[in-house]
Amino acid sequence: MGRLQLQIIIGLVLAIATIWLVAQVGGNEESRMARAETARHATAVENGAALYETHCSECHGVRGEGVGQLGPPLNDEAFFTTRLSEVGWLDTLESYIIATVTHGRLVATVPLYAGDGVAAVMAPWAIEYGGPLRDDEIRDVTAFVLNWEATALGEVELTQVEAPVSSASDPQAITRGEEQFVTSCGECHTVEGVSSGELAPDLTEINAVVPTHNPELDAEGYIRVSVLVPNAHYVEGYEPGQTEATCGAILSEQQLDEVVTFLLAQ
Ligand code: HEC
Ligand code: HEC
Repeated sequence: MGRLQLQIIIGLVLAIATIWLVAQVGGNEESRMARAETARHATAVENGAALYETHCSECHGVRGEGVGQLGPPLNDEAFFTTRLSEVGWLDTLESYIIATVTHGRLVATVPLYAGDGVAAVMAPWAIEYGGPLRDDEIRDVTAFVLNWEATALGEVELTQVEAPVSSASDPQAITRGEEQFVTSCGECHTVEGVSSGELAPDLTEINAVVPTHNPELDAEGYIRVSVLVPNAHYVEGYEPGQTEATCGAILSEQQLDEVVTFLLAQ
């Protein structure tokens, strides 16, 4: 073999080795970036889940299923398919969620959630509008909501878990609800034979008064709203200025359920 041929062969081998090396490094770089992006997204969803639990679940449901008249479902097929065109939003669902959460929803788009105009339908969440959340937190909670797409569209099969016994059929729940009521509500409210608070309306006959106080809600929905959105409705004689006391208690979902069960059983 002549020198020239040898040089050509060595040259070729070097060139191939270089191309191979570049491809390796480039590929690794790409998958490293992909991995970093996946990890970043996972962290955002995780932070978002915690924020959602604290700030959103009481109205939109722990699993995004919506809560009666308090808030619409978000883990929902229509939300992921037709909602944007329904409201005329031309950008992405992500930007829609960020915008809605940032600014709040001051006017209901669905009559069910209209409230009585006293309270903002959904108050703004961004710090710059008086809410508690930073912009990065709003992006994280949005990532968490968007993460429901697959279940909302029925693309993943969820394993059926046995439904918990409804509190209404559990006498223990009524007893626990009564104890919770005495602790969290009794200092202001009277229920005959249970508590004798005088700062707020007597709730002994709450089942009977709901239709006159708010014909749009059933008794259960009305009691939940009274606790979760204290200024959604004022009973006559208890408007702001006439009393310092406001209804509104921090209870877990189960505690609230049991208090409601107790009151409905009166
Ligand atoms: C006090 C109850 C309440 C809380 C808490 C609440 N929301 Fe809402 N949310 C509502 C209501 C009511 C609407 C508006 C329904 C309508 O347009 O008629 C709404 C609307 C929305 C919408 C638009 C839904 C649609 O179909 O257009 C999104 C997205 C949303 N909320 C996300 C959140 C997130 C995220 C949080 C937590 C940071 C949160 N909400 C906390 C009550 C609430
Ligand atoms: C610090 C005092 C206070 C506490 C504690 C309190 N409330 Fe109230 N509640 C009020 C006041 C004042 C009103 C009347 C003003 C209004 O309608 O918002 C009211 C109104 C209500 C109403 C509407 C009554 C009607 O006649 O329409 C219900 C239902 C209610 N509260 C349930 C509860 C429950 C359940 C708890 C405990 C989890 C609770 N409240 C804790 C002060 C309180």
